[in-house]
Formats: sequence, structure tokens, C-alpha cells
Amino acid sequence: MNSKKCFVITGASSGLGKALKDFLISETHHFVVSLSRKAEPEDFSTERILFSYCDLATLDNTEFIKDICETYQEEDIIYINNAATILPLCEVGGFREVELAAYFKINIEAPVRLINELVALKKKGLTILNISSGAAKRAISNWSLYCSAKAAVNMFCDVLAIEHPEVIVRNIDPGVINTRMQSQIRESNIPDLQIFVNLSVNEHLKDPIEAAREILIDFV
Ligand SMILES: NC(=O)c1ccc[n+]([C@@H]2O[C@H](COP(=O)([O-])OP(=O)(O)OC[C@H]3O[C@@H](n4cnc5c(N)ncnc54)[C@H](OP(=O)(O)O)[C@@H]3O)[C@@H](O)[C@H]2O)c1
Repeated sequence: MNSKKCFVITGASSGLGKALKDFLISETHHFVVSLSRKAEPEDFSTERILFSYCDLATLDNTEFIKDICETYQEEDIIYINNAATILPLCEVGGFREVELAAYFKINIEAPVRLINELVALKKKGLTILNISSGAAKRAISNWSLYCSAKAAVNMFCDVLAIEHPEVIVRNIDPGVINTRMQSQIRESNIPDLQIFVNLSVNEHLKDPIEAAREILIDFV
């Protein structure tokens, strides 16, 4: 049996993050640290999961990363930068300033701070899996915030990879998955709306647990 690892997942309460967590708990023997702004349901009781409150919108310090590194100092840590938001979707010129600050805090500033802290503290046995998107490399009308945030964190991780060859770093495009993010896209009025409606109607969206399995298969 492979030695135990610790998977630290942001946004593990719903969507792909929840599927990653559920897969790891049910199909592997590894530890999971669920970083989420929602408490775990009470029926989710296993000693292999540790819940740590983390709202990326209001992240005031990264102290809990130190606690995680101390608790799991014997294990390899696989950090999955999963939490992200896609709203607001609108043309440039239509955003409110307050939305812009909040958006980049959740989607760039907080993940960059957390990864920076991990790299500083975990000198051996660190993997960073950045859940990216095709949108990091393709301009989509009304998606300027999402595209630019995904591109920024991709590049941050690319630079990390050349600076720290001892850290395993991957930017992973998980494909189009049946989660709340896709519902939010279908409820918007973006020019490409019909493409996303068709993906759902024709059942071409990936099941989150299958997407999780594909992402994790090389790391468990
Ligand atoms: N769905 C797709 O088709 C698709 C395609 C390509 C890439 N992705 C990427 O896959 C990842 C997961 O997305 P998803 O589809 O699972 O979307 P989702 O269902 O909307 O889930 C997003 C996750 O991010 C968390 N989150 C949002 N704001 C947060 C905050 N302020 N602090 C902490 N957590 C926060 C959410 O937590 P709450 O439950 O508390 O809101 C939720 O767990 C994202 O990085 C997304 O960009 C998705």
C-alpha cells in the first residue's frame, strides 16, 4: 500500500471540491484537510478528515497552513487549489469596483498567499494541483474576470515550477463538469449561452466524481 498522503482541498464543500474529498475518503486511505467556509455535515465522521474554516474572501492570515504542515509533517502534502468563482459575468465597463476587489481576492490573492505559505513551510514532499480551465488560455466574451484570474494563477504556478523543482506543480483543466458553476453560466446572459445550455441538455457535462477520479488517479 502507498504511504499515506495528506490532500488539502479548498472549496471542498460542494461541486468538484466535494467530489475530490468524497473520492479520497471513500476510495483511498489518505488524509484530507477540507478548507471550506461551510462546516462538514455531522454524518461525515472519519478520523481521516480534518475540517478547517477558510473563507477566501476574508482571509486575514495564513496561520492555519502552519498548523496543517505541523500536523502532517510526516506525510507528503498535495494541495488542491480548487475553490473559485465565475460571477460576475459581464462586459468590461460593467463591473462595480467593489466586485472587482472581491473577485481578485478570492480567485488570485488568496490562492497565491496560501501556496506561497505552503512552499515556504513544506520543504519536502509538496505537490500543488491548480484546478485551472480552458478559459485560462482562451478569451471568452463576458468572462474577463474568470479568464484573467485563471491565467494569472496558471502563470504563478508555472513560475513556481521553474523556481522550485522539488515541488510537483500541475495546472489541470478538468473539463466541463456538472456543478453549480455551470448552472450559474446557464442562468447568465452571456453571448455563448446556447453552447452551455446544449452541453447540459445533451448530457455532455462530466459527473463531478468522474472528474475527481481523473484528476487524482496519478496522485493517490
Ligand atoms: N464546472 C466546470 O465546468 C469547470 C470547468 C473548468 C474548471 N472548473 C474549475 O473547477 C473548480 C471547482 O469549480 P466547481 O465547478 O466545483 O464550482 P462550484 O460548484 O461553484 O464550487 C466552487 C467552490 O468554491 C468555493 N468557494 C467559492 N467562494 C469561496 C470563498 N470565498 N471561500 C472559500 N471557498 C469558496 C465554493 O464553496 P461554497 O460551497 O461555500 O460556496 C465551492 O466549494 C474551480 O476552480 C473552477 O474554476 C470548473
